[in-house]
Amino acid sequence: MRVSDMCGIIGYVGFRQAATTILKALKNLEYRGYDSVGIAVEEKGRIRIVKDKGRIADFEKTAGLEGISGTVGIGHTRWATHGVPNQVNAHPHSDCHGKTVIIHNGIIENFESLKEQLAKAGHRFKSDTDTEVIAHLIESQKEDDFESAFVAAARKIEGTYSIVAIRQGDGRIICSRKSSPLIIGIGKKEMFCASDMPAVLDYTNEFVILKDGEYAVLDATGHRICELQGGRQVKRRSMRIDWTRQMAQKDGFAHFMIKEIHQQQSAIRLATTSGEYGRAARLLDGAKMLRVVACGSSYHAGLVFKNVLERLTDRHVEVSYASEFMHLPNVGKGTVVIAISQSGETADTMAAVRLAKERGAKVLAVCNVVGSSLTREADLTLYLNAGPEIAVVATKSFTSQLALLYKLVFIVSKRQDLEQGIADLSSAIDAVLTKAGDMEKLAEKLCKSTDFFFIGRGLSHATALEGALKLKEITYLHAESYPAGELKHGPLSLLEGGVKVVAIAPGDETRTKIMGNIKECQARNAEVIVFSDDKDAARLGTEFALLPKVDPIFSPILFSIPLQLLAYYISVKKGCDPDKPRNLAKSVTVE
Ligand code: AGP
Repeated sequence: MRVSDMCGIIGYVGFRQAATTILKALKNLEYRGYDSVGIAVEEKGRIRIVKDKGRIADFEKTAGLEGISGTVGIGHTRWATHGVPNQVNAHPHSDCHGKTVIIHNGIIENFESLKEQLAKAGHRFKSDTDTEVIAHLIESQKEDDFESAFVAAARKIEGTYSIVAIRQGDGRIICSRKSSPLIIGIGKKEMFCASDMPAVLDYTNEFVILKDGEYAVLDATGHRICELQGGRQVKRRSMRIDWTRQMAQKDGFAHFMIKEIHQQQSAIRLATTSGEYGRAARLLDGAKMLRVVACGSSYHAGLVFKNVLERLTDRHVEVSYASEFMHLPNVGKGTVVIAISQSGETADTMAAVRLAKERGAKVLAVCNVVGSSLTREADLTLYLNAGPEIAVVATKSFTSQLALLYKLVFIVSKRQDLEQGIADLSSAIDAVLTKAGDMEKLAEKLCKSTDFFFIGRGLSHATALEGALKLKEITYLHAESYPAGELKHGPLSLLEGGVKVVAIAPGDETRTKIMGNIKECQARNAEVIVFSDDKDAARLGTEFALLPKVDPIFSPILFSIPLQLLAYYISVKKGCDPDKPRNLAKSVTVE
């Protein structure tokens, strides 16, 4: 059986007690994976590994980390993509003698052949993981020195990875990456490496980003980066990130998701107040063909971008799920690919970007995470500046993507007169957030339902798709979305008493038709919940949310917010964890 993971990883070397320092950092990374957790620390001349299945909070109670001395170690939180999450498959993994211990994120594509060779040479494997192979591979190298053995082994690995390793008696951390995020945090007399910056914001704001095909050696006094092939030392300036630990904490909110929902006014402002918009608009202006690639919520933002750009200009935009792009890579010189991604690490999006670049296209990234893979490979990046988004589901990143894309369209279409409308959304959003309690009451009424259809027309179809995605992600209820006019071509057969239809019905050009669709659903005994800024449309619903009036072009931003709130409160009422939905991870770094 093959086990590969999508994970949070951390390495620490310095003066603090490593085990508890690592655990604290892992808590900040739990959004990347949360089905098992483990730590390895060098203590009194041997490496001690503690790991288990389950969440960090349970692990903390039983692992006895306070009693582990030692100031160098590694830690891992796992989200299994293949194979069961259990104690044996949890990271860290070690070689035959427990001397080289490693953690890993990604997939080792040639692990079967490596494992076969290593097994023939007498190596004994304890787990099903591809990761364990790396520890044995390092052990099997003829080089005695840890760094040389690590480099020799890493050169034999195919696939995507970030790897962090320690060796008994060595006192250093060695790490490397290929298509999987890894940052180095620089402290005073201490060094960190991690999958993501929020992990170590308690300790430092100074970072260096490791690039693909590089490895780094860390000890308490500093770090050295080298190219994996060739071994040339690389000099890279560190950067200071103005995120604070506070930004990555809940600030009195029950969950990150609800905190991030409430941050949307400022996130929208930050997304639209700075950035290389002029350059981005010129890039689009010069393109023969425009294509968007993205996944999930970011894909929905792409649909809104297409609709608004095509309304205001004579340009045409093709929007593709990034995972489908390779099956229709109709790009070449003259194409500009707009890659939208909160994390900038989504493997499907990265694969699409690389393919597009190979074929001569230019890439404009719309991204939140500074220094992420996407921003390094794109020709130009517009940053969301939304701050860390910790909940697995996209909320503030989605609405700030929309705000950023609106502004870009307004520049391209020379309709800057519309830009003020984005800023004006603030008071309407405030009104929706102030009445969050209404969504909580609605959630109470809906939390026992099992089937939801989200419908909308035009721009509101994208809103409906996003609303359905939010609901299914964190409540595990069946929710799907259709353009309202499509219902009669099939899905209508599923409507009956008990089924809930959520209709996105702004008072725009879709108003009359969606009102007809609402009646169509009611005629099949479905209960319709209407989200509208139009009194007549709203009152058609058995339940309704009457939203403030804004320029209809911005309805996807405004209408998404009560849908996020509804999903959040249903999730809480059902006893789910809205921040950590089952089977999902924040950065999807496997294709
Ligand atoms: C949204 O709530 C999701 N968790 C998910 O669909 C996400 O939008 C998708 O995986 C894309 O992520 P990205 O924006 O980081 O590329």
